[in-house]
Amino acid sequence: MAGFIGSNLLETLLGLDQRVRGLDNYFTGHKKNLEQVQGLVGEKQWSRFQMIEGDIRDPAACRRACEGVDFVLHQAALGSVPRSLAEPVASHESNVTGFLNMLIAARDAGTKQFVFASSSAVYGDAPELPKVEDRTGKPLSPYAASKMMNELYASAFARSYGFHSIGLRYFNVFGPRQDPEGAYAAVIPKWIAAMLRREPVYINGDGETSRDFCYINNVVQANLLAATAEKAEALDQAYNIALGERTTLNELFLMLQTSIRMRKPELRETKPVYREFRPGDVRHSLADIGKAQGLLGYAPEYKVQQGIELAMDWYMKESVKRETES
Ligand SMILES: NC(=O)c1ccc[n+]([C@@H]2O[C@H](COP(=O)([O-])OP(=O)(O)OC[C@H]3O[C@@H](n4cnc5c(N)ncnc54)[C@H](O)[C@@H]3O)[C@@H](O)[C@H]2O)c1
Repeated sequence: MAGFIGSNLLETLLGLDQRVRGLDNYFTGHKKNLEQVQGLVGEKQWSRFQMIEGDIRDPAACRRACEGVDFVLHQAALGSVPRSLAEPVASHESNVTGFLNMLIAARDAGTKQFVFASSSAVYGDAPELPKVEDRTGKPLSPYAASKMMNELYASAFARSYGFHSIGLRYFNVFGPRQDPEGAYAAVIPKWIAAMLRREPVYINGDGETSRDFCYINNVVQANLLAATAEKAEALDQAYNIALGERTTLNELFLMLQTSIRMRKPELRETKPVYREFRPGDVRHSLADIGKAQGLLGYAPEYKVQQGIELAMDWYMKESVKRETES
């Protein structure tokens, strides 16, 4: 809830006058994300939010979080492929055991819908592009294995207990409140922070690696659609949630640099620094979003360039704040 995607869901849900309960151990999420949401929504809307500081590895915390709840949007996990390579047990405990605890708690609380964050990582070594939901490969990292386990448990719970859920396979999401700091930061916030600090931007590989970058508002839309999906054929499925377009890292570098220099023309034009490919990374990633369009009515509204323009002001403001605080 205090993480990047969770806090954006919170902002939208409170804006829609929903009552929201959040659970987070603040491991990679931040209280300041919640404070920002508080500043963006009205006082009345904020009063409909209840935060529980707790851990999904603790079944009792999961039970508290799910009690009396209609919809669960489960986002909590340890993200990042490299983190999972360095700490596979920690990754398993939060991503698999924690997930299972949440699934059980939601089932026992009789929630109407359980939507969870899966990942494009489940496509692993499958070479086909674009990625189509029923053609997954072998996992290339413990993180990928953990997200596959989520989907397997969700599917087993449907058959074993008739408990329905929907998995959303996110592809490289970006936007405001995505953490630019730390060894495991995602590429867009990390590069923006480096550019603003006039530090070198590193590209792992030759820059022709591509990703299907997806602006956060598209992901929020997918969560709301999944939570309210009623058609039987839409349930107990995993969906690609992406834009459905491919951007290379070289193209991304240029887009970010152009967007920053429009706001800060004093920043010199630079070139990225190329270095070794990173273990566990796939070369290309592109989603076929037809299934989500057909069964959920998903229609991503924001392209990569638009998303960058919308997020950039937030990144610039955050970077000024960080500089004045340090
Ligand atoms: N951001 C992406 O591009 C992307 C892509 C694919 C999948 N996902 C998945 O989406 C979800 C949200 O990702 P995000 O980008 O918002 O990451 P994030 O790190 O900002 O958010 C994850 C949140 O989970 C919390 N958390 C972690 N372990 C916990 C635990 N044991 N108990 C309670 N809370 C815990 C963290 O404190 C954090 O607030 C994750 O499941 C992630 O694997 C994200």
